[in-house]
Amino acid sequence: THPLRLGIAGLGTVGIGVVKIVKQQAALLAARTGREITISAISARTRDKDRGVSLSRFAWEDDPVALATRDDVDVFVELMGGSDGPAKAATEAAIAAGKDVVTANKAMLALHGQALAEAAEAAGRVIRYEAAVAGGIPVIKALTEGLAANRITRVMGVMNGTCNYILTRMEATGQGYNTLFEEAHKLGYLEADPNLDVGGIDAGHKLALLSSIAFGTRVDFDGIELEGIQRVSLDDIRHAADMGYKIKLLGVAQMTGRGLEQRMSPCLVPAGSPLGQLDGGTNMVVIEGDAVGQIVMRGPGAGEGPTASAVMADVCDIARGFRLPVFGQPASTLTAAQRAQSVLP
Ligand code: NDP
Ligand code: HSE
Repeated sequence: THPLRLGIAGLGTVGIGVVKIVKQQAALLAARTGREITISAISARTRDKDRGVSLSRFAWEDDPVALATRDDVDVFVELMGGSDGPAKAATEAAIAAGKDVVTANKAMLALHGQALAEAAEAAGRVIRYEAAVAGGIPVIKALTEGLAANRITRVMGVMNGTCNYILTRMEATGQGYNTLFEEAHKLGYLEADPNLDVGGIDAGHKLALLSSIAFGTRVDFDGIELEGIQRVSLDDIRHAADMGYKIKLLGVAQMTGRGLEQRMSPCLVPAGSPLGQLDGGTNMVVIEGDAVGQIVMRGPGAGEGPTASAVMADVCDIARGFRLPVFGQPASTLTAAQRAQSVLP
């Protein structure tokens, strides 16, 4: 069997984590997938930057589109970020050039996932994005594979570690939102545009992807009732604690008689419940299915190792020949009702 050859665009936290796993776990990956996994070429904004790992054996491309369409690349691994711009252009180019795609880019998929899925499926290619939702927690695989026989009744969870960190620290230290926002900033937790985190948008992107898989609907980020954590006060947190509750930025998606309801907002959860006990930067996803009952998955939602672990799980699936539709069911089979706008709760 030929090696599976990767082209990696983006050599930041996640990209370098992926390079390290490919290098350090070569034998294990080959044993598990039956194929050698190699890196042909890489791309980032700045070529001459010490990234703490040797990259000299890989071809360099300044342009991610050129990388994505190289003859010696089988899988385009998009780890640059940004909903539009080079990430989207290179993903589209990769599909058109007959490559499979692995990405961690929840913003791109939440806003353009439907169109990208239709293009990929028409071209017979796959797009995998385990890392895009809840980092190291294999929630996409749980929904698309492990729970494939269930009618999903509800998906919910805490899917932004930065917000959970800020809210947890407000309660633990008695310091206000602005002070802890600055602390999170100094620790490097916030996205380049912090409003993506504290405005609930990043978590909303993730919920939109989960809803689509869970309920067989089109990805509908605009259909989410969205509120961030900026207006949560210390008084809110204290009053909640007095009543035995914690405040979490909680996403909930469920199918009702009126259609799909999706919301991402600060919610009261019982302090003793699994969600209430979720402190710091951790994520938790709760899935309810008619046959399985309730499943709770908890783990690291970000960081080099956990996110690269999820990216490489997708690469392994492609190496093994798994070719699932992007959102679990082929985009072309969605009925008119499934394509319709979500209802606001
Ligand atoms: P970083 O900011 O650490 O790295 C981004 C990389 O992309 C850098 O190497 C940068 O180059 C490169 N890049 C940016 N713009 C361009 C461009 N126009 N052309 C070529 N290269 C470009 O991001 P992360 O690694 O943290 O995130 C990558 C993706 O993974 C994002 O979609 C993010 O949302 C997602 N993700 C991240 C998680 C995390 O824990 N960090 C968790 C889950 C998902 P240079 O280094 O030269 O500046
Ligand atoms: N900013 C995100 C978070 C990174 O805090 O959860 C992981 O997607």
